[in-house]
Amino acid sequence: MFELSATSVFLGVVIFLLCFWVVRRPKNLPPGPWSLPIIGYNFKPGLIHEAYMDLAKKYGPIFSLRRGSFVFVILNDRESITQALVKSGEFFSDRFVPGHFNWSIPDPGKKGKLHTTIAFSNGKPWVDLRRFALPALRSFGFGKQSLVPQINLEARYLSEEIRNLRGEPTDLATTFSKATANIICQLLFSQRYEYSDGEMSRILKSMDEFLSLIHETDLVNIFETLIHTPRYKPYRESIFSDRDFIMSHLNSHRETFQKDNIRDFTDAFLADDISKEFELEHFWRVLLDFFIGGTDTTASVTSWTILFLSVHPDVQRKVQAELDTVVGRGRQPNTLDRPDLPYCNATLTEVMRIRPILPVSVPHMTSDDVSFRGFTIPKGSIIIPNLWAVHHDPKEWNEPDTFNPDRFLSADGKQFQKNEAWMPFGVGRRDCVGSQLAKMETFLLFTNLFQQFEFKLPPNQPNPSMRGANRFTMNPQPYKICAIER
Ligand code: HEM
Repeated sequence: MFELSATSVFLGVVIFLLCFWVVRRPKNLPPGPWSLPIIGYNFKPGLIHEAYMDLAKKYGPIFSLRRGSFVFVILNDRESITQALVKSGEFFSDRFVPGHFNWSIPDPGKKGKLHTTIAFSNGKPWVDLRRFALPALRSFGFGKQSLVPQINLEARYLSEEIRNLRGEPTDLATTFSKATANIICQLLFSQRYEYSDGEMSRILKSMDEFLSLIHETDLVNIFETLIHTPRYKPYRESIFSDRDFIMSHLNSHRETFQKDNIRDFTDAFLADDISKEFELEHFWRVLLDFFIGGTDTTASVTSWTILFLSVHPDVQRKVQAELDTVVGRGRQPNTLDRPDLPYCNATLTEVMRIRPILPVSVPHMTSDDVSFRGFTIPKGSIIIPNLWAVHHDPKEWNEPDTFNPDRFLSADGKQFQKNEAWMPFGVGRRDCVGSQLAKMETFLLFTNLFQQFEFKLPPNQPNPSMRGANRFTMNPQPYKICAIER
């Protein structure tokens, strides 16, 4: 008797949830797969952009699915992404904040408090922070020619570090992060760290955990309260460790601040009226956006470049021949050399095409109900621009899975040629704040390294995987490389 009633209660709940689910599905959504009640679409383990590519083959370039109480709309071609993020930018430029990121933002959602982050805030806090941050960073050379000597100095330290390895097979991923962290840390806090510095090694480790412990399909993305469970303790600790590192810089700047000697971005914040709007104790989260944005992304592009050119030694030789002719060995490359280095430019651009380090960008959210390409997308839907799909779309690229720098060159090979489907920094009003700095930094690190070293895979070992690691920014899977001085 008891078993029967328990079963009926269970069945009743299931039927109720299913009805609730069917009734709740908004009308006229883009097509998409069936999703489980409550949890939503059940992804198989693996890389999310690959799962989206498979679904796009079945449902078309604009499809939708459900996860938790959220509608996700995935855009898989250039037309739909530019139409949404550029032409209809007023509806598609809010940010969806995944649960674990939301938890990391100081005082999220509390009345009277502001979301102190650039990458994960919306409305006035986002506008005010972006409006303050960009000119403030530019006044310290962010993305400007005046920063070249500082980046080139770091490139010399990096080369010295690599030279000391004497060609031994080594995983250089953390070494690249140390170089890129130094460039952004000097802009933010006027501080550079030795490559042997224990504190920086610890912070880079916790940043790596922050970016790799939680995958796109993890339930905590959509059920934030799970973050308090023991499973996410290492993630919480990584955030606390990053916060303490940045707070120590903020506190020492507060103690030594002089309004007629603005040393860096942190001083610029202390000197600006914006510090009355956002509390200093919360500002670490904005600095974390820049620290992570400035470190992990550029280092990842450098790792991919070394890997692709080691697997394609013919391309490496052409890059080095061009560098030898245009720059020679007697001086460091400069961004002013870029127009004269079309093959180097094309090679770096091709690496960033074939392996966009944010393959599904950073999620957006609709700020209102919107009619889009014959569909109705409700307010609060999560919009995923699948940049990987655009970079591998056969409508845009001849043999998109083949690594071929020539695709970015004119027929005579003398001119670099753009392609509108190249969008590793996203498009529209929410595009990457750091793209100018990133373009300079990736170019200077790449040209400095290949000017001085030949990179070779260790002999008698299988080629490393060219598939990315499953993490927020897609790094290569760990690999070792030999750097032979030229
Ligand atoms: C090769 C290097 C980089 C790549 C490929 C890259 C790519 C991206 C992408 C795809 C987005 C999301 C765009 C969107 O929402 O539509 C983004 C946002 C952002 N990036 Fe980058 N990024 C790079 C380097 C940097 C650097 C060096 C910084 C800062 C120092 C930075 C800071 C940011 C910030 C703060 C945002 C959030 C912007 C906002 O929400 O308004 N990024 N980046």
